[in-house]
Amino acid sequence: DKGTYPFYMLKEVDEQPVVMRKLVQEYLDTDGSPVIEPELLSRMQQADKLYVVGAGTSYHAGLIGARLFERLTGIPTQVFISSEFAYEQPIMSKKPFFIFLTQSGETADSREVLVNVKKQGWPTLTITNVPKSTLSREATFTLLLHAGPEIAVASTKAYTAQVALQAILAKGLGMAMRKQLAIDFDVKQQLGLVAVGMQAIVDSKDQLESVAARYLAQPRNAFYIGRGIDWSVALESALKLKEISYVQAEGFASGELKHGTIALIEDKTPVIGIITQDRTAGLTRSNLQEVVSRGASVLTIASKHLAQPDDTIVLPDVDELLTPLLSVVPAQLLAYYTSLGKGLDVDKPRNLAKSVTVQ
Ligand code: M6R
Repeated sequence: DKGTYPFYMLKEVDEQPVVMRKLVQEYLDTDGSPVIEPELLSRMQQADKLYVVGAGTSYHAGLIGARLFERLTGIPTQVFISSEFAYEQPIMSKKPFFIFLTQSGETADSREVLVNVKKQGWPTLTITNVPKSTLSREATFTLLLHAGPEIAVASTKAYTAQVALQAILAKGLGMAMRKQLAIDFDVKQQLGLVAVGMQAIVDSKDQLESVAARYLAQPRNAFYIGRGIDWSVALESALKLKEISYVQAEGFASGELKHGTIALIEDKTPVIGIITQDRTAGLTRSNLQEVVSRGASVLTIASKHLAQPDDTIVLPDVDELLTPLLSVVPAQLLAYYTSLGKGLDVDKPRNLAKSVTVQ
């Protein structure tokens, strides 16, 4: 039931702070240590490489997860689009461990990979929102997202739940492996900050509604740009905008723009820069300057400690690895209000179904 909300998507965006707290409650004990099935941790520890597989938004969540796993456990991790992996399996490491990300647990492309991987005898984990779903039943292990039903076709709270749960799992695995590098990442405290930060962003809806009306209502195309983890969020942000508002949006690595794609920038093309990482903030800002001088309408989503006076949206500070949990929220809302402003059916965009059960 969507209660007083006009669309499920807005309700689901608003639920994200609660989902963060729910994950803390489900997976972290009072002193903040992850509580994860020991058998799962021991199988993961034996792996020489983690393979993360997903489609659409779940693939984008995997892009963030890979960084979390590598940084907190030291295990090399690679992310794959399920429909690609299914038909072009790369040269495999000796001891692979597979992580399937799927909100619905029913995505045919992802299941195809799972079936093949099982035939080859490799251990698998499904991270899903739906208990007893196909991919949950068929994998060796399951972790549930506890995000509550996600009804809108555009996935929102499942993305942030997938990112947060991968952070918890990576932390738990890092601790089990006694990795020194994990020690100062207090996942419980960080997810608490994330929940508060998300609440502040969803409380600033009016501002996002007017930004959407002013900059995104008219143009036929738009860009989200960023580097590293911000680029991964740019991909997810662009998908949201495309899927529900039909603006042709592209998520782009900001340094790559000048190698060709900048030719698409015209007067008033919206270019939204995501700036949350110390090492690359200055570089992304200079890439934004390059598009300003070609007439683009530049907007910015920046972390507080990197913010400048004319940034459009300022995000509360959290650990650099967890910034996607905040930077994606304004992008979700910009997509929502652009779609709403055009009078579209936000929850049921054309040509799309909630779960894609064909390959
Ligand atoms: O249920 P899944 O997470 O496996 O679904 C994967 C994609 O179909 C899904 O994320 C899709 O891209 C969404 N419509 C994005 O908002």
